[in-house]
Amino acid sequence: MVTAASPSVGPTGRPIRSFPAPASLKGHGPARIIALCNQKGGVGKTTTTINLGASLAESGRRVLAIDFDPQGALSAGLGVQTHDVTTIYDLLLGTVKDAASTIVHTSIAGLDVIPANIDLSAAEVHLVNEVAREQILARVLRQVTGEYDVILIDCQPSLGLLTVNALTAAHGVLIPLECEYFALRGVALLVETIDKVRDRLNPAITLDGILATMYDGRTLHAREVLERVVDTFGDDVLETVISRTVKFPDASVAGAPIITFAPEHQAAEAYRQLARELIFRGAVA
Ligand SMILES: Nc1ncnc2c1ncn2[C@@H]1O[C@H](COP(=O)(O)OP(=O)(O)OP(=O)(O)O)[C@@H](O)[C@H]1O
Ligand SMILES: [Mg+2]
Repeated sequence: MVTAASPSVGPTGRPIRSFPAPASLKGHGPARIIALCNQKGGVGKTTTTINLGASLAESGRRVLAIDFDPQGALSAGLGVQTHDVTTIYDLLLGTVKDAASTIVHTSIAGLDVIPANIDLSAAEVHLVNEVAREQILARVLRQVTGEYDVILIDCQPSLGLLTVNALTAAHGVLIPLECEYFALRGVALLVETIDKVRDRLNPAITLDGILATMYDGRTLHAREVLERVVDTFGDDVLETVISRTVKFPDASVAGAPIITFAPEHQAAEAYRQLARELIFRGAVA
């Protein structure tokens, strides 16, 4: 494959380095909670949740993925059924009290999911008059943090009440950013929302990183966009970059992470590298 960068410099303009293989953990929990968030649609939130989750599980972390999008793409992408099951919606509304009872094991050892389905689209309307409506997810997740090392929340493409719930529950935010021109526009608004949540609801929330996705190093356009992203956000931009490849849609159709669907593919290796980088940065145990 043709890449523009010289061999020693990565697409983000920084030297390529390999992050150390993660040490194995002696015990598990309490989980650090990471919200994968970008109000722009189709930027790789769900794909990143699935494959980062699978990569972390592969390195011995206990991972819980929360499907927080009524489309249920995370559940489907992990091969988990969403009809006639209890979902995150039931937990938010309190019709099911025991969060552990909604957890589904996936085919990946160490990767569990709480599913969602179209019911979740009614949540914002139902919760709007609740007391402490922004803290409902945080309260639900408190029940299960002890069992996991990391909880990943796959947000829907909006900055509404559900996303604010995710940001209020989270210790950190990971922003997947598609390498195309208009992608940059929404990020200022997203960062503003994170700042507001930090001010009013969750003082400790940190930006864990901006992840460039769907990068095509053969196009000048993608290289220029990535350069601007690094100029604007500096070290918040993760060194790991996810390239554009048709293997991702293929894996989605198969209902499996690329980590197991095509374990040797460079995209699988990129997500393993992302897991190592986040562990190296201290975003994950
Ligand atoms: N690196 C990639 N290369 C090529 N296709 C990709 C890549 N990452 C994701 N895709 C594909 O792009 C589409 C959108 O990805 P994904 O569902 O992860 O985005 P999303 O941000 O979760 O979208 P939404 O905002 O709708 O929830 C999917 O069909 C997915 O398979
Ligand atoms: Mg999604």
